[in-house]
Amino acid sequence: MLNQVEELASKALDELAKVTNVNEIEAWRIRYLGRKSNLIHILRSLATVPINERREVGARANELKKSLETAFEEKKVDLESDSALLTGRETLDVTLPGQQIPLGRLHPTTQILEEICDIFSSMGFQVVEGPEVEWDYYNFEALNMPADHPARDMFATLWVDFETKTGDRPMLLRTHTSPVQIRVMEKTPPPIRIIAPGRVYRYEATDATHEWMFYQVEGLAVDRNITLADLKGTLFEFARRLFGEDRKCRFRCDYFPFVEPGVEVAIDCLVCHGAGCRLCDNSGWIEILGAGMVHPEVLRRLGIDPQIYSGFAFGMGVERIPILRYGIDDIRLFYGNDLRFLKQF
Ligand code: FA5
Repeated sequence: MLNQVEELASKALDELAKVTNVNEIEAWRIRYLGRKSNLIHILRSLATVPINERREVGARANELKKSLETAFEEKKVDLESDSALLTGRETLDVTLPGQQIPLGRLHPTTQILEEICDIFSSMGFQVVEGPEVEWDYYNFEALNMPADHPARDMFATLWVDFETKTGDRPMLLRTHTSPVQIRVMEKTPPPIRIIAPGRVYRYEATDATHEWMFYQVEGLAVDRNITLADLKGTLFEFARRLFGEDRKCRFRCDYFPFVEPGVEVAIDCLVCHGAGCRLCDNSGWIEILGAGMVHPEVLRRLGIDPQIYSGFAFGMGVERIPILRYGIDDIRLFYGNDLRFLKQF
C-alpha cells in the first residue's frame, strides 16, 4: 500500500508539471484530489489496511494530500496570472518609465588617483605598491631617520603594537609612501622611474586640510645625471596638466632627512584666490607635496653608488588635489560617507 502511495505521488507531480492551462488543472485536481480519486480511496479504506502498516500509510497519504493541494493552488495562481496577461485583463504598459536604479560611481579619491597615475604613466613612470603595515626600518631607518632622530616627530606615528616600538623590528602603519622608494631601490638597479599610490596614517588631530588617514602618491626617479631641474620640470608639467596653464605653483625650500636639497610645492588656493581663508590657513597657498634629490646616504646604503647615480623623489597628498581643483573647503568630507558630497563627483 505504501508503494502505491509513493507511485501516486510521483505520477501526480509529473503530470502537474505538464499542465499548461486552467482547464487542464481542473481535470488534474479531479483526477488526483477528487472524491473518486485513488488517493481519497486509499484514505477511506485505511481501516482495511493491516494494523502494522496502517499508521505509516495513513500518515504518508495525508501528507501527500496536503502537498498536492498546495502544489495545485500554486500552479493555479501561476496559470491564472499568465492567462490574465494574455487575455488582456491585466495589462502591461511597456511605455511606463522603468524603475531607476541608482548608478554607483568611483570615490573622488579613486578618480583623482587614476588621473595622477595616467599623467605619470604617460611620462614613463611605472606604478608600484607597498604594504600599509610597515617595518620601522623602511618607514624611518632606511630613510635616514635612525631611532631617536628628531625628524621622526614630523610623522606622528601609529604603532601597530606599542610594545614593539622598543622591540628589535618595530612595526607601524606607514606614515608616508616613502618606504616604497626603499623597497624599490633595494630590488631594482637604476634606471628607476616609479610612482607608488596608497594610504598612509598619522596620529594627529584633524582639521580642514589634515586627516588621520589619507592618500599619497610617491614618485622616484634614479638614473645617471638626474638633477633638481628634472624634478622641477616633472612637477611643473604635472601641475600644468592637472590644474591648467594659469594656476600658480610655488616651489620652496623644505627639509626632509632623506633628500638633499628638499623642497615643498604649493598651489594657489581656489577658495580665496590668494586672499587667505580657513582652508589655506590665511596664506593663499595649499601645500600639495614634499620632494627633493634623494640623499646620497640613502642611495649608498642600498648599494647604489651616489658618485654615478642621482635621483629625485616626491610625495604628494592626493586629497589636496581635488580640494584645490574644486574648491572643497574641508578634507574631512572625503571619508565622512555623506552621499550628498560623494554624489557630486
Ligand atoms: C612626506 O610625507 C614626505 N614623505 C614627502 C617626500 C617624499 C619628501 C619624497 C621628499 C621626498 P609631508 O609630511 O609633508 O611629507 O606630506 C606630503 C604631503 O602629504 C603634504 O604636502 C600634504 O599634501 C599631504 N599631507 C600631509 N599630512 C597630511 C594630512 N594629515 N592629511 C592630508 N594630507 C596630508
